[in-house]
Amino acid sequence: MKTLERASVIVTGASGGIGRATVEAFLNEGARVIMGVNRDEGCKDLEEKWGIERARMVRADLSNEQDIATLIDSAVKDFGSLDVLVNNGACLFPMKAMHEHVHEEFERIIAVNVRGLWLTCKYAYPHLKKSKGSIVSVSSMAGVAGERSHSIYSASKGFMNSLTKSMAIDYGREGIRCNAVALSSALVPNIDKMIAAQPNAAEIVQLRKDINLLGYTSVPEETANVVVFLASPKASFITGAIIPVSGGSEVGYGVKTYDYR
Ligand SMILES: NC(=O)c1ccc[n+]([C@@H]2O[C@H](COP(=O)([O-])OP(=O)(O)OC[C@H]3O[C@@H](n4cnc5c(N)ncnc54)[C@H](O)[C@@H]3O)[C@@H](O)[C@H]2O)c1
Repeated sequence: MKTLERASVIVTGASGGIGRATVEAFLNEGARVIMGVNRDEGCKDLEEKWGIERARMVRADLSNEQDIATLIDSAVKDFGSLDVLVNNGACLFPMKAMHEHVHEEFERIIAVNVRGLWLTCKYAYPHLKKSKGSIVSVSSMAGVAGERSHSIYSASKGFMNSLTKSMAIDYGREGIRCNAVALSSALVPNIDKMIAAQPNAAEIVQLRKDINLLGYTSVPEETANVVVFLASPKASFITGAIIPVSGGSEVGYGVKTYDYR
């Protein structure tokens, strides 16, 4: 693969904020994209805008193994190969401390973010081996450093980061690169809606800006650009990396520190 032109790409969680921006970023590079969407959502407008030769929607619940198999198969059936897998779809809610979670919530997060991630990579692997393709997973700084009230979600992103490194080790000699991006905060409709319903919404909006050294909350395109770069031949010597897309939130105590006189 010399460029992403006509590359066959799967993006899971394609209807969401970062997923959708990632689909469009790949399409802008000339790739063909299978848009994996959860049962109740869609990207019909992207199919109409780009045509189904370029952008095709497949309904796949990442907690369902058969759906995952169908999703991966469709890239090979429709586009003849699989060059790039983007693991973006994830269960983000509810956000709670460890002791507050109930079984059902725990099992849901694990089913999608852990088991679903593993199975998606497992089904994609033989095809990526053939194409010498790559995996880019959309992770979180919460999986590197932890985050208040994000216990099981953070742990699931820790799993994603470790799996990325282990896969990079196992498959490097087969020509498969495996990387992840670790976000701090991005403005996406689902999270914006959840924040707007909180009693202290304005405070949370400000905090999401303040945790970044650059002082603003990122837009999905800023993550999508890095995902596309990591999948592209321009990143040919990068594997096993967890790249922060975080406005530098991890390098220090951030903006909200005391100014000593
Ligand atoms: N927005 C942020 O601030 C932020 C921060 C850190 C990490 N992330 C990561 O970015 C990725 C995208 O999230 P987003 O911010 O765009 O939010 P989002 O809620 O818009 O995206 C999540 C996507 O996952 C899909 N999804 C959820 N359960 C699924 C299931 N069972 N099967 C298939 N798809 C399912 C949703 O339909 C949605 O499209 C996620 O992996 C998330 O963990 C986001």
